[in-house]
Amino acid sequence: MITLGIETSCDESALALLETKESGVTLDYRVIGSLIHSQAELHSQFGGVFPSLAKREHGKNLIPLLRKLLADARPYIDGNQSLISENEFESKINEIKLKFGPKNSDLVDSLIDINFLRFIPKIDRIAVTEGPGLEPALWVGISFGEILSQLWSIPIIPVNHMEGHVVGSLLNNEIENKDWSKLKVIEYPAVALLISGGHTELVEINKQSETTAFPLKYKIIGQTRDDAVGEAFDKVARLLELPYPGGPHISKLAEQAEREGIQYVSQLPRPMLKSDDLDFSFSGLKTAVLYAIRDEKNLTGIIGNEFKKSIALEFELCVDEVLTKKLRKAIDKIGAKTIIAGGGVVANNRLRRSFENISREYGLPLYLPSRHVSGDNALMIALVGAIDDRKYSDQLKADGTKRLN
Ligand code: KG4
Ligand code: ZN
Repeated sequence: MITLGIETSCDESALALLETKESGVTLDYRVIGSLIHSQAELHSQFGGVFPSLAKREHGKNLIPLLRKLLADARPYIDGNQSLISENEFESKINEIKLKFGPKNSDLVDSLIDINFLRFIPKIDRIAVTEGPGLEPALWVGISFGEILSQLWSIPIIPVNHMEGHVVGSLLNNEIENKDWSKLKVIEYPAVALLISGGHTELVEINKQSETTAFPLKYKIIGQTRDDAVGEAFDKVARLLELPYPGGPHISKLAEQAEREGIQYVSQLPRPMLKSDDLDFSFSGLKTAVLYAIRDEKNLTGIIGNEFKKSIALEFELCVDEVLTKKLRKAIDKIGAKTIIAGGGVVANNRLRRSFENISREYGLPLYLPSRHVSGDNALMIALVGAIDDRKYSDQLKADGTKRLN
């Protein structure tokens, strides 16, 4: 079975083609193609993702991305290809323009030189992110999926973006070589720490039935009460006058600080470190950084490089301490047999090292996403679509605050 994944929940326009075969306790898969077009540079001038700009850019990007994805995938998706007749194609495109034009002018305007869409590819299913995310951005992906579904008569299914971050961590590292591979088999219950620009969640994962590997059952057991951890990285970076997205910049400065032995003069707070639950809070930490910067400016008149490095390191140490403490607590609470971490912030080296330490300490396997799938991507969306037959739908709806359970 071949699944086309579509991801537009934030500032990455992404498409992927994934071929899968059921194989007892797991799933055999091979990646036919995975393309990501990041808009981060465009949004950096606003210091964060600007939803209407994201919507416009997704609208412009998706057709060119699909053209490239299909062209590169030809040997895999040609099969007994049929061709939509010129007349039928024209009338379908006109219908599509009428239906989707009013709300998706950029996407519909990009439907030029689209003769390549007349070849119906050997794709069995379309999987598209329905949420959580920025609703204007989500709608573009959904409309795009519906357009293709209508044009090629292929079923479409909605996917939860956070489930994508969970199962994306079970893919193997070598995803570019088009060889068959097996999705990692894990023991349940598993605990997943999902850390991204929009989420900070601890999730308990179990199988729905003893006899089949998928679908999985999710229960959120802890979450942030205010800012997400990636959001905190981005906001602190902005306070330090670093570009968006701030995570990688903070991380680089923190590493420099450590190498050079630079330390912050006092301690930033560790929010909710001692609370009994599994919840998080990061907005106070951001405010503490704001005050630290104000004090530094009052004292020296500038925010110097050395000061920036010291704050970056101290901030990262705070985040690390809080996340690892709560992860340990979650493992103990549910008797986890597997640890999974997912989401863009998992790219952070200090956090990766800490998760590895916890894994060693508990003697539990740890699954981290490979570099290609740690940020937003469509491969993880195609994968969820492939393992979850739950519901085909002809009435998809963007849901910005969609939850995992
Ligand atoms: O999962 P993701 O790509 O998008 C969302 O669904 O939000 O996560 C993006 C977040 C951003 O906040 C970015 O600053 C953060 O991941 N990030 C990092 C690092 N690389 C990306 N945070 C800390 N350290 C990093 N190296
Ligand atoms: Zn994400």
